[in-house]
Amino acid sequence: MEILLFLGVVVASAVSGPAGHYQGDRVLRLIPETDQHLQFLRNVSHTRKVDIWQPHSIDLVTTDRSVDFRVGAEWTSDVQAELEKIGLQYEILTENLQILIENQFDRIRTRSFSYDYESYHNWDQIESWIATIANKNPNLISRLKIGQSYEGRDIYLLRVGKRTGSPKPAIFMDCGIHAREWISPAFCQWFVKEAIRTHGTDSLLNCLLNELDFLVIPVLNVDGYVYSWTEDRLWRKTRSRNFNSVCVGTDPNRNFNAQWCANGSSNNPCSDVYCGPFVESEKEVKAVADFIRNHSSIIKAYLTIHSYSQKCLFPYSYTYSLAYNHNELANLAQNAVLALQSLYGTQYTFGSGASSLSWH
Ligand SMILES: *[C@@H]1O[C@H](CO)[C@@H](O)[C@H](O)[C@H]1NC(C)=O
Ligand SMILES: *[C@@H]1O[C@H](CO)[C@@H](O)[C@H](O)[C@H]1NC(C)=O
Ligand SMILES: *[C@@H]1O[C@H](CO)[C@@H](O)[C@H](O)[C@H]1NC(C)=O
Ligand SMILES: [Zn+2]
Repeated sequence: MEILLFLGVVVASAVSGPAGHYQGDRVLRLIPETDQHLQFLRNVSHTRKVDIWQPHSIDLVTTDRSVDFRVGAEWTSDVQAELEKIGLQYEILTENLQILIENQFDRIRTRSFSYDYESYHNWDQIESWIATIANKNPNLISRLKIGQSYEGRDIYLLRVGKRTGSPKPAIFMDCGIHAREWISPAFCQWFVKEAIRTHGTDSLLNCLLNELDFLVIPVLNVDGYVYSWTEDRLWRKTRSRNFNSVCVGTDPNRNFNAQWCANGSSNNPCSDVYCGPFVESEKEVKAVADFIRNHSSIIKAYLTIHSYSQKCLFPYSYTYSLAYNHNELANLAQNAVLALQSLYGTQYTFGSGASSLSWH
């Protein structure tokens, strides 16, 4: 007798990534210590030589705080010589960024028999996952289309929670507002999967799903996400065309009607933190803002999931001033970080976006 066991058989098909935009680019990490160091970083951040990755804006670079940035291949010796000249020590995190990207695409596999939550998925796969998960769990999940992207793709929202017949308070969560932050959509999918898997057995989750709805957008910046798979792994913004500029896209996270285009954003269409021509100019942002305005009486919190770093951040990011409820937010974030740590010892820090305080 032969038993053919198909479960777990993996049909691997390598995914080909975008062409070699980042051949020879390096990623450096350093901690500026003097005003001269800061001035150099500000100067160089306004050139095409480098791209600051962390903190998320040059306005937030201060002394004694770690900075990560990518240096274009043709500028590495130039920039490293400058750093040495001003006595700013650096660490090379990545010798050749393109190799890192190609390795990542090589590791992505499509599995034939079950959805692999530990692998990254392209938009087509995620879109069909959204439909399937909603169809299979009608008691727990409903799928809404809240709008369309600039290039005409649907923007989906999954409402996750027990149907009680009456309106419930809700927690809103977006993933993939920044295209290249792939771990973010992967997290939203994981979250929805875990809610389904454990709602019958985990009493806390059961209670949450009875009392609350989670309004989850698995991928908000869909056009950018597709572009990060097909053309440029490090694409961040939307794909809308800009009047009077060859540079494409707006940072959707700088396009909301909250201190629009103030600190931490740019009015230059070529910047990765371009705030857009006007508030809610991006269809993706307008769709979310409209949804929130329409549901403002039930939405009690908004979570936005980003990478990279291990931080639980809360308002404000555009100013060092503290929010009126700073202590409550800090307390909440601290408890979240402690809960997270209690599982596998994972270390997150917490603080307002601008100060991003270290805790330990
Ligand atoms: C920064 O740029 C200014 C103006 O171009 C220049 O005077 C200054 O020397 C530069 N500082 C550093 C540290 O590179
Ligand atoms: C918000 O409500 C208005 C008016 O009822 C409606 O036209 C619009 O489609 C709604 N938008 C969303 C995103 O729910
Ligand atoms: C922007 O930053 C500057 C300097 O850090 C600060 O003085 C100013 O108040 C900030 N603007 C806003 C709107 O918070
Ligand atoms: Zn982000």
